[in-house]
Amino acid sequence: MIIQPRTRGFICLTAHPDGALQAVKNQIEYVKSKGKIKNGPKKVLVIGASTGFGLSSRIAAAFGSDAATIGVFFEKPASEGKMGTAGWYNSAAFEKEAHAAGLYAKSINGDAFSDDIKKQTIDLIKKDLGQVDLVVYSLASPRRTHPKTGVAYASVLKPIGQPFTNKTVDFHTGVVSDITINPVENDEDIANTIAVMGGEDWKFWIEDLKAAGVLAAGVKTVAYSYIGPELTFPIYRNGTIGQAKNDLEATVPVLNELLKDLHGVSYVSVNKALVTQSSSAIPVVPLYISLLYKVMKAKGTHEGTIEQMQRLFADRLYTENGEVALDSEGRIRIDDWEMAEDVQAEVAKYWDKVTTETLAEISDIDGYRKEFFNLFGFELEGVDYEKDTDENVKVPSIG
Ligand code: NAD
Ligand code: NA
Repeated sequence: MIIQPRTRGFICLTAHPDGALQAVKNQIEYVKSKGKIKNGPKKVLVIGASTGFGLSSRIAAAFGSDAATIGVFFEKPASEGKMGTAGWYNSAAFEKEAHAAGLYAKSINGDAFSDDIKKQTIDLIKKDLGQVDLVVYSLASPRRTHPKTGVAYASVLKPIGQPFTNKTVDFHTGVVSDITINPVENDEDIANTIAVMGGEDWKFWIEDLKAAGVLAAGVKTVAYSYIGPELTFPIYRNGTIGQAKNDLEATVPVLNELLKDLHGVSYVSVNKALVTQSSSAIPVVPLYISLLYKVMKAKGTHEGTIEQMQRLFADRLYTENGEVALDSEGRIRIDDWEMAEDVQAEVAKYWDKVTTETLAEISDIDGYRKEFFNLFGFELEGVDYEKDTDENVKVPSIG
């Protein structure tokens, strides 16, 4: 079929398999251009491997370090004339390229929060890899069913305490307007958000993997967090999602204790603000990202998810002397170029000036929009969108 983008708000309802393949190939080329990661990971489990930072982690491990990878994600293949999701096509593309390069790559599609998917993953590791030496935890989800109690939690994106008013952009129309987001009305919203995006599920994964004996001596595990500028604090770091990130970060010492006898270690990496399916759902943040992109591109310090993950592996997690640089809170900071003083000062200056009228000139809204469509396989150079494409492509290991 001929596939066109079809959007509803910050969701794209369609995805393009050839475009996804091109996007994955572009990421692979970037990783290869940086050369091999010395002492990199060899057997890697990526939880949340189909899009965003997780997909780029998988690509960096596979093509930067010749790693065998198992990817876990929650995506849909095409069915009855409906196309599959972007993450499905990304994973089909990744496996195809990995297999062509002689790399082991298998995937598991299902709810990573469930005990069943954890068990399936452990069985696959036992059967094919024996053990893994890196576990990347990169889930982003609006809901989680607790595997022990069956309680279904939904996260919310809200400030805590006071209403928050600031500028936001509709990146389709380029209209900048004020938005007021009311604070949570009760502590339950905070607790629910922590239950979905906090550290408990990461801990459950590591506990189960360890108990099954599938973690190698010296294993590393990493999960991703975000801090960002003060202007987004009320909706992000000091809001409900920030409480979940605090909980995720507080899980690090718990996992370090658990991994002690394996000489294993856990990290949270604070990553840069980037266009992903998850970040486009947060008010205010897309406008910040479009100003940030403009400033960082002008300075030559702009990175996408693949540049971030390649740098995380090569310059942080797998350094030549084995040392991992951490901030005063014990976190890896790969958001260092985003948070550089000169970058933030310029973004703040533009933030005050940005209106519907000035948006095109002072922000990289076109770059934002393009990257958004790229996430779904659209607007990629070298793809013929007029050509009939097979929406039924399979993820080889899933069938
Ligand atoms: P994303 O939406 O691109 O990726 C989410 C992944 O999780 C996908 O692979 C999806 O299939 C998977 N997933 C979701 N629910 C699942 C489930 N129930 N079972 C199995 N898989 C499931 O998101 P992202 O932006 O790459 O976010 C990944 C992590 O990085 C999150 O912790 C996020 O907070 C963090 N982060 C994001 C940004 C940003 O700007 N996007 C910045 C810093 C940190
Ligand atoms: Na991800």
